[in-house]
Amino acid sequence: MAKSISASIMCADLLNLQASIKQLEEAMVDYIHIDIMDGSFVPNITLGFDLINSIKAITDIPLDVHLMVNDPARFIERMNLSENDIICVHYESDIHIHRTLESIRKKGCKTGLAINPQTPVNAIEYLLEYIDMVLIMTVSPGFAGQKMFSGAQRKVLDTVKLLENLGFNNIPIEVDGNISNENGKKLSKCGADIFVLGTSSLFIKDKDMSLCAREFRAEVDYV
Ligand code: DX5
Ligand code: ZN
Repeated sequence: MAKSISASIMCADLLNLQASIKQLEEAMVDYIHIDIMDGSFVPNITLGFDLINSIKAITDIPLDVHLMVNDPARFIERMNLSENDIICVHYESDIHIHRTLESIRKKGCKTGLAINPQTPVNAIEYLLEYIDMVLIMTVSPGFAGQKMFSGAQRKVLDTVKLLENLGFNNIPIEVDGNISNENGKKLSKCGADIFVLGTSSLFIKDKDMSLCAREFRAEVDYV
């Protein structure tokens, strides 16, 4: 499966987002990753739905929205998104996750299902028909700049095995949290397909984003 870069916009210069998005277009990233936090599911509050709609209005890069909110179904209709965009919800955030995934599909967007480091891979087993992407959190969600948890490589390998055994190896695996060039290379070898790049690989002070993206692509055999 082709490898993809998803740029985590919460790590960009928040006072110059339009300029950052232009740089991401020049760096030809595949997605813009937008972290939405509610201060409850995770102990932090970041970007909002109006910002998502504003970003959508100025770029053709597909959006990869990462909802770290409790009861995400309440917010699906707040986003002006379309068929190339992904809305990713957390398994741990919603007791009716099946219904929420269906509502995202009904809206015409792609679905993503995210699981925290401690959540067993087989939690996704009965929902595979409803997801277009699985997101393996490689840090506990809520903050940029954290260190990848030690079980990340094993977890990606187990996810590949589960998807293969159940005949769903068409579903790409995204990894998010401390995806440095080094960690990206390791996780890519384990079977990861989409890499959320933040402070440890793409948004590096005084370093050109296109150069960062090229260097990362070289590490993960990006074709
Ligand atoms: C954390 C977010 C990540 C974060 C990545 O909860 O989901 O997308 O922005 O930042 P780094 O790459 O610095 O870990
Ligand atoms: Zn994220």
